Amino acid sequence: MSAAEGGRAPLDPADVDLAVDLCGLRMPTPVMTASGCAAAGRELDQFFDVTSIGAVVTKSIMRSPRSGRPTPRMVETPSGMLNSIGLQGPGIDAFLARDLPWLVQRGARAFVSIAGETADEYVELARRVGQAPGVAGIEVNISCPNVENRGMVFACDPDSSYRVLSEVRPHIPDDIPVFAKLTPDVTDITIVAGAAADAGADGVTVINTLLGIAMDPDTLRPRLGGVTGGLSGPAVRPVAVRAVWQIRRALPDLPIIGVGGIRTGFDALEMVLAGAAAVQVGTVIFHDPSAPVRVADELRDELAVRGFASLDEVRGLAHV
Ligand SMILES: Cc1cc2nc3c(=O)[nH]c(=O)nc-3n(C[C@H](O)[C@H](O)[C@H](O)COP(=O)(O)O)c2cc1C
Repeated sequence: MSAAEGGRAPLDPADVDLAVDLCGLRMPTPVMTASGCAAAGRELDQFFDVTSIGAVVTKSIMRSPRSGRPTPRMVETPSGMLNSIGLQGPGIDAFLARDLPWLVQRGARAFVSIAGETADEYVELARRVGQAPGVAGIEVNISCPNVENRGMVFACDPDSSYRVLSEVRPHIPDDIPVFAKLTPDVTDITIVAGAAADAGADGVTVINTLLGIAMDPDTLRPRLGGVTGGLSGPAVRPVAVRAVWQIRRALPDLPIIGVGGIRTGFDALEMVLAGAAAVQVGTVIFHDPSAPVRVADELRDELAVRGFASLDEVRGLAHV
């Protein structure tokens, strides 16, 4: 008999507690935004109250302002999207002067994503973000190319992942959770997750986009200006659920944030069943800006109808 058939009576959704404690960060719901899909939160606040979601994860910030990769930078694919935005952004000075203070003053939990081309760049960003008032958490995006290693992605290599996280962690106060954001484009993601944890990461965020290419039927050439792009959306969800499941199995005590193709409350529940402590929604925000609130409401309903009163009762249940 399945857990859902195990004689649990449905609950009133109002009796379901969605609150989570993510390494000491109390969040009213487990649903966060995914980095890069909601800028720094201000745009979303016109659609819903950004203080009501778990946290706003900001677009990965780099040391200097960047214009990103050549256009076109977005292509629709079956059940997904390819993007080659290329970490476009204002740079750390403008972020700390303008974007972060807005989020903090607004009362949102600000989870700041940092990205560097070298280990030293990560350290500088970690130090500056770690000292900024009001930061709720830091996501270290090691799924971007590493110029020190001929453009290879840090998170493709356990040693590079260990190096970045071990150099970054001492510069961030202990009470600010540090999550390493990993790529699924590796043979065994559990080894990279283990390296990040050994280096002092409090948890991991999985997954970043998968590398893809789409061809233009007229030009018979790649459609993206930058040729390759990151695949996201529902097409990647089974890959993300698999990554969460494998990491939970290999490292049962490591907190995991599940991200990849979540569109509905059941999609979020899938991640939690696989072992995620929290989830992020990304691509869906582009056509439904209030998705972070809707997904949380639907997750509450999914739990209620199955008779579960809290996320603690379902986290990792698929492993039992
Ligand atoms: C347009 C776009 C920009 C993104 N930018 C970032 C980024 O700056 N940093 C990062 O860690 N992930 C970035 N991502 C990846 C998302 O955070 C997320 O990991 C991925 O898209 C899978 O989730 P989804 O299918 O819900 O979008 C970006 C994704 C998209 C679609």
